Amino acid sequence: MKRIGILTSGGDCQALNATMRGVVKGLSSNLDELEVYGFMNGYKGLIYGDYRLLTSSDFSGILTKGGTILGSSRQPFKMMRVPDENGLDKVEAMKQNYYKLRLDCLVILGGNGTQKTANLLREEGLNIIHLPKTIDNDIWGTDMTFGFYSAVNIATDAIDCIHTTAASHNRVFIVEIMGHKVGWLTLYAGIAGGADIILLPEIPYNIDKVIKAIDKRTRQGKGFTVIAVAEGAISDEDAAMSKKDLKKKLEEKKYPSVAYELAEQILDKSGTEVRITVPGHTQRGGSPCPYDRVLSTRLGVAAAELILEKEYGYMVAIVNGETKKVPLEEVSGKLKMVSPDDQLIQEAKLLGISFGD
Ligand code: F6P
Repeated sequence: MKRIGILTSGGDCQALNATMRGVVKGLSSNLDELEVYGFMNGYKGLIYGDYRLLTSSDFSGILTKGGTILGSSRQPFKMMRVPDENGLDKVEAMKQNYYKLRLDCLVILGGNGTQKTANLLREEGLNIIHLPKTIDNDIWGTDMTFGFYSAVNIATDAIDCIHTTAASHNRVFIVEIMGHKVGWLTLYAGIAGGADIILLPEIPYNIDKVIKAIDKRTRQGKGFTVIAVAEGAISDEDAAMSKKDLKKKLEEKKYPSVAYELAEQILDKSGTEVRITVPGHTQRGGSPCPYDRVLSTRLGVAAAELILEKEYGYMVAIVNGETKKVPLEEVSGKLKMVSPDDQLIQEAKLLGISFGD
């Protein structure tokens, strides 16, 4: 008999269900007896003992279903060691629930913050397997996270739709794409959607250079420009400010998001009116794309193999097309960011795409 616990934590994405299905199918086809306990709403369920004994039918028909059948929530890593409002020690509570159910291991699906808590639980002696989820593709140690390509498809569709209307009206448009700290999603969707300017958190933009890129297109007889901007893109001026001064500036100006600040800067400096589109959380919604269905199934099955071999304390990654176990302590707390020297950035620049730098 194997008893496993499973939870999905942090912002959701496509293919969470497909991944869980991969784990459970991989186990149940190899074991006569298996009990799967699903903790509800991420670490919250593990802390407060909110769980359900799941059956194989719970994992049937969910390959294509977006969201997560277990629910999810954000439980910041930095708050894990802080007792809750009733003085409950969250880490102790999670351990107690794990031991109470006599689990052989806990399978945790989540992004960077989730992974840090997974590693903390490993350090506390629990058997942990982590599976890399996020539309941001910013998890260190894996070439790809599930959710990324589904989100690229949605963000690209948004840029495609804007492209046709921008061209008809000779307008400048900004499409704001998710990604606070890391710009992979904006970079991929921007290139796939043929954006003319791509602004990323990792490459602070200079507003004069952005305007120059728009003017260049106008001089070439192209009446419209599409700008793909990451949620966390930042101007070079802001990047040079102290954290305190930047916070003060943002509090005074209160832009709904970076796209609005950028649009105002372009209008003030060049007189060009800019339209804004923010696809927002649609980028995390809907069915996983075929690539994500395959990736998440492979990662899930690889996790099942580790569990069958009693190998714990790993993230299951995909590296050079092969699934791979990566020790959690090697990757936890690291972020996979876009390097300004990345080949893709250089290629995009050769195409004529401006990064505002
Ligand atoms: O981490 C995934 C992500 O979608 C980011 O791209 C985005 O910045 C953030 O989550 C949004 O978080 P929330 O759902 O809490 O608004």
